[in-house]
Amino acid sequence: MSNINYRRRQFLQYTAFSALAAALPGLVLGERVLNNKPNSTFEADVEIDLIARLTEVAILPGKHTRVFQYHGNLIKGPQTALKTIPGYLGPIFSFQKGQKIRINFYNQLPDLCITHWHGLHVPQIMDGHPMYAISHGERYVYEFEIKNPAGTNWYHSHTHELTGAQVYQGLAGMIIISDDIEQKLELPSGEYDLPIIIQDRNFTHDNQLSFNLHRHDRMRGFLGNSILVNGQVNSSIPVKTRAYRLRIMNGSNARVYKLGWNDGTVITAIGTDGGLLAKPQNLPYVMLAPAERVELWIDFSGRKPGSELILQSLTYQGTHSAMERGNGSMRHGMSRMMGAMGGGFGQDEVIDIAKFQIHEQVGDSPKLPVELIPMRRLTERDVSQPGRTIPIAIGMQHMSFQLNDRTFVMQDYGESEKIPLNTIQRMKISHDSHMMGGGMHGGRGGMMGMMMSMPHPIHVHGQQFQVLSRRQSNSKKGYESVKDGFIDSGWKDTILVMPGEEVDIIKPFNDYTGLFPYHCHILEHEDMGMMRNFYVS
Ligand code: C2O
Ligand code: CU
Ligand code: CU
Repeated sequence: MSNINYRRRQFLQYTAFSALAAALPGLVLGERVLNNKPNSTFEADVEIDLIARLTEVAILPGKHTRVFQYHGNLIKGPQTALKTIPGYLGPIFSFQKGQKIRINFYNQLPDLCITHWHGLHVPQIMDGHPMYAISHGERYVYEFEIKNPAGTNWYHSHTHELTGAQVYQGLAGMIIISDDIEQKLELPSGEYDLPIIIQDRNFTHDNQLSFNLHRHDRMRGFLGNSILVNGQVNSSIPVKTRAYRLRIMNGSNARVYKLGWNDGTVITAIGTDGGLLAKPQNLPYVMLAPAERVELWIDFSGRKPGSELILQSLTYQGTHSAMERGNGSMRHGMSRMMGAMGGGFGQDEVIDIAKFQIHEQVGDSPKLPVELIPMRRLTERDVSQPGRTIPIAIGMQHMSFQLNDRTFVMQDYGESEKIPLNTIQRMKISHDSHMMGGGMHGGRGGMMGMMMSMPHPIHVHGQQFQVLSRRQSNSKKGYESVKDGFIDSGWKDTILVMPGEEVDIIKPFNDYTGLFPYHCHILEHEDMGMMRNFYVS
């Protein structure tokens, strides 16, 4: 992106602001609001300086890798609030429900940048909306109270048109929240509570991250050929013969994982994006799309020291990669094209994610609780405006993905995107039906076919939602290979919508007015404008 483009965009941004400033909270007439002063009445329990900067880290043997990194300094609060990890990722934050947090975010990158607390329920001005992006040398002060329950969330860059590139180069980290209800469960903690942040990357021959995206790569989303866990390759984790809690987060730009154990051990999920489940749920495998989190319980009791258990991404179809293999005349052309799109794994190959090496025998292990947390299931009866369903229609135009037939415009929202404060809304995420029937560019084949057969992880900022129902309209054969991997019983902020699938969700919009984005979390799609705002008032 050239500087000229930047300036022009900023200019447009300023202009748009003046028109809207009166209507929106947190905006000042004629200029971007830089929230650059701490509020003296806000008594922070935890205060952190967070600096986005350029640095070099050791990832592969040999030359160090240039990355963007969140560097954190704890200014106030318990030492456990901030934990630096090796590699390029930002520090892991550990907060308690009810704590007041101040984060002084400094941008020392050459480009604009802003940080979003993915999964946290915070006011608009603290949410890292891309309109708040700050320039090199500027500071943005975030102050918010932790309202979320215990769970695994994350933070990452949210700079318009640069989110993909900035997250790819390192701007992400995990946020762990705990609360009293969780504490009583005595789940595995300390060294038995492991963050597993999964990302895929491509490295050049001299160990640098490569992120050269052609148009087709952007359409498909970036797929890399190296899998990193917590910022490191060939992850192997020494464990003892007892139970562990794994906080698995997909921090990849576009790759969807089908997580399973290599020996067929059942997956036991205890949490989703929004926190713990009401009770543990067993599955053969679990699908994890970009931005989704899943917490697993895994008990290594009874395994022999010296043996290992591998967390893998298993094979599945139902995405464009399936089409590559099976679609007659398209087949060869598409394969060649996909091949040219950059040498990542397809999403239908077995990939080792992390090896758990059993290295020490220990006497006893905590037992998996039968019940976890109390959870109220929302139903149709909870919808505040019974006749209303808010659409989130996935569509495409001019080789770009859209939502509800529009692309992202910084402060723009339409009628269907206006939401009264303190309501509970039903939303329907679907694929634009007029796109499904074919017609354009040779029906379902070709580029259009490929694009319509992509899964999209749809994320809504603000409070977590629940899943009401899913429908698979045109029963694509590949769906069979993923359908048992969805956990619809917990709170979510991101949901994978498969090709031909329609998902109804129910979501509260409490406490905070203003603009809250919703978007596809394939970062290349978000950056091409597959994002819109809800305006809560
Ligand atoms: Cu994790 Cu708006 O994003
Ligand atoms: Cu978010
Ligand atoms: Cu998408």
